[in-house]
Amino acid sequence: MSKSIMITGGAGFIGSHVVRLFVNKYPHYNIVNLDALTYAGNLENLKDIENRENYTFVKADICKAEEIENVFREHNITDVIHLAAESHVDRSIADPMAFIMTNVVGTVNLLNAARKAWAGEYDQHRFYHVSTDEVYGSLHDGGFFVETTPYDPQSPYSASKASSDHFVRAYANTYGMQTVISNCSNNYGPNHFPEKLIPLCIYNIRHNKPLPIYGKGENVRDWLYVVDHARAIDVVFHNGATGETYNIGGFNEWKNIDIVRLLCKVMDRKLGRPEGESEKLITFVKDRAGHDLRYAIDASKIMNELGWQPSLQFEEGIEKTVDWYLANEEWLQNVTSGNYQDYYSEQYEKR
Ligand code: NAD
Ligand code: DAU
Repeated sequence: MSKSIMITGGAGFIGSHVVRLFVNKYPHYNIVNLDALTYAGNLENLKDIENRENYTFVKADICKAEEIENVFREHNITDVIHLAAESHVDRSIADPMAFIMTNVVGTVNLLNAARKAWAGEYDQHRFYHVSTDEVYGSLHDGGFFVETTPYDPQSPYSASKASSDHFVRAYANTYGMQTVISNCSNNYGPNHFPEKLIPLCIYNIRHNKPLPIYGKGENVRDWLYVVDHARAIDVVFHNGATGETYNIGGFNEWKNIDIVRLLCKVMDRKLGRPEGESEKLITFVKDRAGHDLRYAIDASKIMNELGWQPSLQFEEGIEKTVDWYLANEEWLQNVTSGNYQDYYSEQYEKR
């Protein structure tokens, strides 16, 4: 049987790379990109594949149960890869309720719709939930997050993601749904919304604006190129064992301040500025409330059991990322001006 896969959040940063990979690699699958097009959803990310026969975009909100049930019915959805979420920690500190709505209530709505649509034949369908390493909390004394590390979320964002993970496992246990979860570290690469550290700094260096470093810049994150995450999602979706969790990461830890210095160096070279020029923009600002000190993923399980590994070294990935942003200034301008939000009506409503 060919699949009809609902990919939620497919207009966002990671989701758009997953949609592209699946549309290109699996022409016999029907790919339904379901996205509410919040501020983070941008259909310009998918211009290159939007007219493919095996691709459909549906504007819908996972918080609205009826809308979701209709999509399951109309598109005969066989599987779900769920990425739609509110994803920015700083926004979750300012407005936790939006995170509880989309990340918790939205995920439960999706599970309910899948449960209804697949009743009596759960063994033929897969619900794949894409989660984050932040559910494990903050590392202070060395070590790595493994799949059995107890959950200890510290921000409203990570608490909402942890909650959604628990619901997915509860639906597998209670109703026998076939689920799989992955928890990934920080992604970077093309189409990253410029509220997150790396694209924000690229944009600000380009425009000679201050580079805001929270606290002393000593916090550590493990970074993975977004296309490598999409490749991992492909592998877990097809070969991951039902009921299992897979950690995904790059074995690539960096202090924030070192990343920003690297970006300054690379951008000085590419923009023809004297070396050290952009570093003058570094500005230490008030720390994020409850700022997690360090995340570090042990990705041995997915590497050993499913044969996945990252394809890029960080320095190479940063070069590619900076090149992409410099070559796509219009994308960045549209995002920072808000014009990207007109794209949906131009592309889909005025036709
Ligand atoms: P993003 O913020 O770039 O994109 C989120 C997408 O979800 C957007 O297209 C948005 O329009 C859509 N969306 C939001 N609310 C919705 C709703 N109610 N109904 C339908 N669509 C809605 O996020 P991202 O960085 O691409 O992250 C995608 C997923 O991966 C999230 O679940 C996130 O928790 C997880 N994740 C992200 C990272 C990372 O570094 N960015 C790392 C690990 C895991
Ligand atoms: O670990 C996975 C998570 O990575 C994902 O689940 C989240 O969706 C994703 O947003 C990301 O969360 P972070 O909070 O780690 O990413 P962010 O880019 O917001 O911040 C990275 C680090 O940089 C963090 O320590 C905070 C710091 N920072 C961030 C911004 C936006 C700054 O110092 N200055 C800034 O302006």
